[in-house]
Amino acid sequence: MSRLRLGVLISGRGTNLQALIDACADPGFPAEIVLVLANVPGAAGLDAASRAGIATATVDHKAFSGREPFDAALTEALEAAGVELVCLAGFMRLLTPGFVGHWRDRLINIHPSLLPAYPGLDTHARALADGVRFAGCTVHFVRTECDVGPIILQAAVPVAADDTPETLAARVLESEHRIYPEAVRLIATGQAKVTGERVAVAGAALPAATVNPPLGG
Ligand code: GRF
Repeated sequence: MSRLRLGVLISGRGTNLQALIDACADPGFPAEIVLVLANVPGAAGLDAASRAGIATATVDHKAFSGREPFDAALTEALEAAGVELVCLAGFMRLLTPGFVGHWRDRLINIHPSLLPAYPGLDTHARALADGVRFAGCTVHFVRTECDVGPIILQAAVPVAADDTPETLAARVLESEHRIYPEAVRLIATGQAKVTGERVAVAGAALPAATVNPPLGG
């Protein structure tokens, strides 16, 4: 079985990276990480990658005169490693249209909200302020606009009456760690395909609806 070659871009702690590393440790998983790239020197996720024997590189955006040369350096490093799918995992830089176009439909992101609700930062505090009953996370193909693009997979988690942004973030993060590897698996096996601006997932069953707070409780 040939495995899809992943490049993972990080800026920080890298818990989603760790979830991908753990998934790829299974020889039956249809993808492997060939490069972890950080824009922040010393990003914690780099250590996790090294411990797992994965090649790492740092491309410090501060060393570049602008976004275009920085993004060109990212592409150069990813292509030198033979990357086929780029996974953003807490990568805190906006990418240029040139980069996004070059990697079109080969570039995915995980975002801690049920997009298209709450793109951008502080998703959990904004969701709590609105009193929503469900929060969640989304894996999507990347387009030039921030946190926009064809949705591959989402997980919804219930919001508790006494949630803080921190408790809600922790609940959502657990789901992030489950759906990011699953989205990669769907792409690697060819089960998830972009058609127009939507993703068709072959053979997916519909889960049951849930209500929060539960009915009649
Ligand atoms: C995650 O919440 C992810 O959804 C967002 O950035 C955070 C990264 O966390 N894009 P980690 O570095 O993977 O722990």
